[in-house]
Amino acid sequence: MCGIVGYIGTRQAGPLLIEGLRKLEYRGYDSAGIATVHDGAIEIRKDIGKIEAIEKKIGLSLAVGTIGIAHCRWATHGGVTQKNAHPHVSPKHQISLVHNGIIENFSELKKKLQSQGYAFQSETDTEVVAHLVDSLYAGSLKEAVQNAVVQLEGAYSLAVISAKEPGTLVATRNESPLIIGVGKGENFVASDVPAILAHTRKVVYLKNQEVVVLTATGVELFGKDGGKLKPETHTITWDEKKAEKGGYPHFMLKEIFEQPQVVTETIEGRIGEGRVTLEAAEQLGDVKRIIIVACGTSWHSGLIGEFMLEEVAKIPVEVEYASEFRYRDPIIEPGTLVLAISQSGETADTLAAMREAKKKGARVLAIVNALGSSIAREADSVIYTKAGPEIGVASTKAFVGQVIVLYLLTMFLGRKNGLLDEQQVRNRVRDLRLLPLQMQQILDEHDSVKTLAKKFAKKRNALYLGRGINYPIALEGALKLKEVSYVHAEGYPAAEMKHGPIALVDKEMPVVVVVTKDDRTYKKVLSNIQEVKARGGHIIAIASKGDTEIKRLANEVIYVPRNSYLLNPLLAVLPLQLLSYYAATARGFDPDKPKNLAKSVTVE
Ligand code: M6R
Repeated sequence: MCGIVGYIGTRQAGPLLIEGLRKLEYRGYDSAGIATVHDGAIEIRKDIGKIEAIEKKIGLSLAVGTIGIAHCRWATHGGVTQKNAHPHVSPKHQISLVHNGIIENFSELKKKLQSQGYAFQSETDTEVVAHLVDSLYAGSLKEAVQNAVVQLEGAYSLAVISAKEPGTLVATRNESPLIIGVGKGENFVASDVPAILAHTRKVVYLKNQEVVVLTATGVELFGKDGGKLKPETHTITWDEKKAEKGGYPHFMLKEIFEQPQVVTETIEGRIGEGRVTLEAAEQLGDVKRIIIVACGTSWHSGLIGEFMLEEVAKIPVEVEYASEFRYRDPIIEPGTLVLAISQSGETADTLAAMREAKKKGARVLAIVNALGSSIAREADSVIYTKAGPEIGVASTKAFVGQVIVLYLLTMFLGRKNGLLDEQQVRNRVRDLRLLPLQMQQILDEHDSVKTLAKKFAKKRNALYLGRGINYPIALEGALKLKEVSYVHAEGYPAAEMKHGPIALVDKEMPVVVVVTKDDRTYKKVLSNIQEVKARGGHIIAIASKGDTEIKRLANEVIYVPRNSYLLNPLLAVLPLQLLSYYAATARGFDPDKPKNLAKSVTVE
């Protein structure tokens, strides 16, 4: 949903900003631009396309000046055109800004500004803010921004500069992420940590409607009421290399390969002999019911969590699309725990659902990957998945981290409720410890998936089937395929096929069936496979090693090692992620930047 980076210091801003912008490109890549101040004037360079192509064409990094702002766009208001690309500028006071979010009252503000004589060059909501700040400018950029934001409705993070004040960069946010990077003799502002990590590890998380004034040597923070605040600095401990491709052609492939390590890091320090330690869960009290709110892939991990929690901890669970949750007037009774699951911690729908739940008195526990993100900060408590920065737009390793945390939480609550004894926890911990090795085995021996992907790349449609705990994996496999390879795919509970979708089956239709041996619906799924086969469908089975029965039924089998019933889905998902990745590359697409998508969806 757009990436912002800003710099003020003594070095040339251009190369630093573009280097930072490359790290944020996962947030939007339909256009990009930069504005710097030099010799009392604003220089703007912007165009449509991906950063690399624009850089070659017009040299974004060649913009001159030691102060600047840059932006990569995921279009909301106004098409993908050069004029709609950021930065936007208001000519009178040479004010330029970049924006992430949506200004909901932009039409009213636009009319007002037009009546004051402001002419608009673009169709964006952002240009309204540039003119608004300009109209309020009376010698202080900080005050103009402060006075402008009280008139704005909606979500925004903004970085603003003016040729009149070449030593000042002003930034603010409301509901869209923005962090400040505190350097030595230089300061940064960015939508996300990777953009600044090469220069500083000290960050300040800006809160809603706070305004920050950056100079080369200072960070001044002002609250909603204009009062001065003391910035609270946090130190980022991430390894910078984790936000780079590290020799892989794409982030998606690198992140798929990181998954064994994600399991190891997510369980580290949280499991011991016969026990699970989850600090954030210690204070939960009596949990009578759990509602999981999430979107996309995180919603799929929630569905797996539902199985685990109901089966082992015997707590009733509902899994809700966060985007629908608050429009239903949900019932929250005492003892209801809301679990908000999000990789980015910034998904607007999940944040809104979580706030609604809190308003109604629920306790909210967040399962989040991005440190210090809005969901992590607003929840009552948070359990971090230790997946490290996930850059590929298609979520892979974060999903694995989420399911692992849900498994840990299940054991924690199961033990707390007296439903698991020490030995049972010990057995489940043993299964968990086996998982990284089994995952590595799949990754090391995935040639058959590559071959299959080439065939898949020629198809226009695919069906993914699974039952029980494997049904969310069917959904996730289908989502991954459509996201990155643009092959239309649908996931169904295998038994639902006969109630309609089976009408689609013919010899052209690949039907991927997740059918692991320990699943209690295993036999039933074999019958569902027979039904598809009888209609000529081409069956690709994701099955457990040693399963000879499936070989007789399926046209192709991809074997995965066998773990426990609850953890098998994490093995089955790997070949499906790889299948999507290789199908995308075989079709000539960049899986890291699928069209129309952005990594972090900060609009509702
Ligand atoms: O950051 P979140 O986990 O809250 O994001 C939720 C979805 O937007 C996300 O999972 C999306 O569906 C991915 N593109 C899936 O690969």
